[in-house]
Amino acid sequence: MSTEKEIKRVTTKTLAFLKKKGIKISVLTAYDFITASILDQAGIEIILVGDSLGNVFQGNETTLPVTMDEMIYHTKAVTKGVNRAMVVVDMPFMSYQLSIDEGFRNAGRIMKETSASAVKLEGGVRVADTIKKITEAGIPVMGHIGLTPQSIHQFGSYRERGKDVEEANEILRDAKAVEDAGAFAIVLEKIPASLAKKITGSLTIPTIGIGAGVHCDGQVLVTPDMLGLNVDFHPRFVRHYANLAEEISTAVKKYIDNVKNKEFPSDEESY
Ligand code: KIV
Repeated sequence: MSTEKEIKRVTTKTLAFLKKKGIKISVLTAYDFITASILDQAGIEIILVGDSLGNVFQGNETTLPVTMDEMIYHTKAVTKGVNRAMVVVDMPFMSYQLSIDEGFRNAGRIMKETSASAVKLEGGVRVADTIKKITEAGIPVMGHIGLTPQSIHQFGSYRERGKDVEEANEILRDAKAVEDAGAFAIVLEKIPASLAKKITGSLTIPTIGIGAGVHCDGQVLVTPDMLGLNVDFHPRFVRHYANLAEEISTAVKKYIDNVKNKEFPSDEESY
């Protein structure tokens, strides 16, 4: 493998290679077949079926209500649209917190039923043994530390994590624990760029940042956020690469107008 263009299917080995070469890794979320196909054909390396679907697809306040069955349903649609990217699936709240065996069984269920390539779970030291058990069975695991949305009620807010020394050291310990447990990559969410830089420099596995600055080995965003579909949500770490909410609204208004004025369908659009 000499250049990114030659990558056939993105695997954990590809990601390790990209980190070694200093080539940044791009990650976006998808929850459906069409979006996943577009992202894949555009060349994204990782498609995350995030439990953020609880917010942006289901309209919930938090990710907590998302179930295993829902993650599996969405992932089955996503994997059908993907030929090249690695598909990583979030393990939803309470699918791995109860016990190591429960987490192991649910990770196995995701792999058996969805054609995905890896699972992601939130937490550091406290989930390290679960990560170890899952990876030892041959299932790649992506870690997720910093602001972990499944713990929102414990944190009390979506504020940045790791600003004071004590919390920063805790996040550093979490990062090391996730790597030592065998994870192939780790998401760093909403932590200071300086801390993300330190973690990225001290780990051999790639770090994927969201609100964690430019020094991470890759970046992830929630697709409806970066496409400007989620208009009420604009934290500073989200860049709008499009304004699809406005475009869709314009198109729909035009359609309504055409229907009302009998301008749609035309003779050519009729049988
Ligand atoms: O659920 C999700 O989309 C995520 C990303 C924000 C990293 O976990």
